[in-house]
Amino acid sequence: MLRVRNLEAGYNKLRVLRGISIHVGAGEIVTVIGANGAGKSTFLNTVAGLLQPLSGEIEFDDQPLGRISPFNVVARGCALVPEGRLVFAPLSVAENLTLGAYHQYRRRRKALAEQQLERVYALFPVLRERRSQLAGTLSGGEQQMLAIGRALMAGPRLLMLDEPSMGLAPLIVKSILETIAGLRKDGVTILLVEQNSKAALGIADRGYVMETGSIVLEGTAEELLNNNEVQRAYLGKEYQSIAER
Ligand SMILES: Nc1ncnc2c1ncn2[C@@H]1O[C@H](COP(=O)(O)OP(=O)(O)OP(=O)(O)O)[C@@H](O)[C@H]1O
Ligand SMILES: [Mg+2]
Repeated sequence: MLRVRNLEAGYNKLRVLRGISIHVGAGEIVTVIGANGAGKSTFLNTVAGLLQPLSGEIEFDDQPLGRISPFNVVARGCALVPEGRLVFAPLSVAENLTLGAYHQYRRRRKALAEQQLERVYALFPVLRERRSQLAGTLSGGEQQMLAIGRALMAGPRLLMLDEPSMGLAPLIVKSILETIAGLRKDGVTILLVEQNSKAALGIADRGYVMETGSIVLEGTAEELLNNNEVQRAYLGKEYQSIAER
């Protein structure tokens, strides 16, 4: 579904991504884990069309995706839940969701957008309850649900999420990640970027480890969870074993 080859991208003269190659098959849940500053957001933002690649290829459904506008990336079926949620604080929950279906309205597909709204409300009933509340007054967990709901309003086949667990309590993380995993049965493929490696590998089929703009390791979620290097660097096992002594 998504195939990225030797992708390089960055900011002005700063090259952040140094030849990233990954693929995501239809129906898969794939995670990219890595520490602060590894380049995870730069990677997702480049796939989403917010940043222009310096070189390399991005293909979605076997068609090139590089160098097309974010609007067209969404219209092609690939939506991003950005880091830090970025909900429109002064707008209501319902207005935020409607904006997510912008491309449907532009193509006069109002009925489709309304169906999608019902699906989002069924997935996150709290958003229906709070549909008139201003997004900026929602709790962190509710804002994350709204950001996911807004992306789903576009009717994506590939949903990319940038650290949905950030700043949330473990129970809420668990519930949100379970909902994300459940989207697979609705035909949504997932590309999940996380610093919370344990939570991400808990729902993923496969994963990649990113360090300073490169993929240094890849494997099934189980292989990565059992990998010594991943345990030491990303799952805090060393700290735990010292603490247990
Ligand atoms: N707008 C920007 N202008 C210049 N440099 C940037 C910009 N955004 C990010 N960077 C730099 O790119 C590198 C990768 O940042 P990026 O945000 O992609 O990392 P990340 O893996 O998403 O980190 P985190 O887990 O903290 O979100 C960092 O060195 C960062 O300082
Ligand atoms: Mg980031």
